[in-house]
Amino acid sequence: MSVNTVEHNRRRFSFEGIREIWLFGYGSLIYKVDFPYLERRPAAIRGWARRFWQGSHDHRGTPEAPGRVVTLIEAPGTECRGMAYRVSPEVFEHLDEREKNGYLRFSTPMTFDDGTRAEGLVYIATPDNAAFLGDAPESAIAGQIARAHGPSGANADYLLQLADSLRALGDDCPHTFAIEAHLRPLLAESVSGNDPIR
Ligand code: BEZ
Repeated sequence: MSVNTVEHNRRRFSFEGIREIWLFGYGSLIYKVDFPYLERRPAAIRGWARRFWQGSHDHRGTPEAPGRVVTLIEAPGTECRGMAYRVSPEVFEHLDEREKNGYLRFSTPMTFDDGTRAEGLVYIATPDNAAFLGDAPESAIAGQIARAHGPSGANADYLLQLADSLRALGDDCPHTFAIEAHLRPLLAESVSGNDPIR
């Protein structure tokens, strides 16, 4: 199941009079930067946690065999680190299309590493969207990710690239790293021909 959020995002937020705005990235936006930006800075948002709870039917899976990608869930007292980009509003024409499978733009405060703060936007796929999969044991999430492939490539590559990016950013994301720990042996067994993935 998928839902196209492009029109919804256009209606939710007017960029009239805005020449630049901060965008907070916590998933593929950290490492897949296929848009122009004016400035990029590591940042964090409070009260949200990264979870592989969103289904991907259009990038890292298919409608028949969806992959899993990240969204944010409310988690009071926690911090999610990521990368903030200062962008011009035209960038959202591309990003709304890229992230149209359930993601809406929300306003959020963010804190940069030097302690300064800014208001900006973040994409979140909320539990009421049609592609939301929700919680599952991290071992089961790893199994689903190991099997899933879509137009943007293997779901496993998405997770491994994100895990590497988080290490580089110094984000200790136990959820992502736990799934990675389950996933790596599955991939190794698959390569060796002793294939538990299929
Ligand atoms: C992000 O990296 O912030 C992001 C994750 C999922 C969808 C859109 C953006």
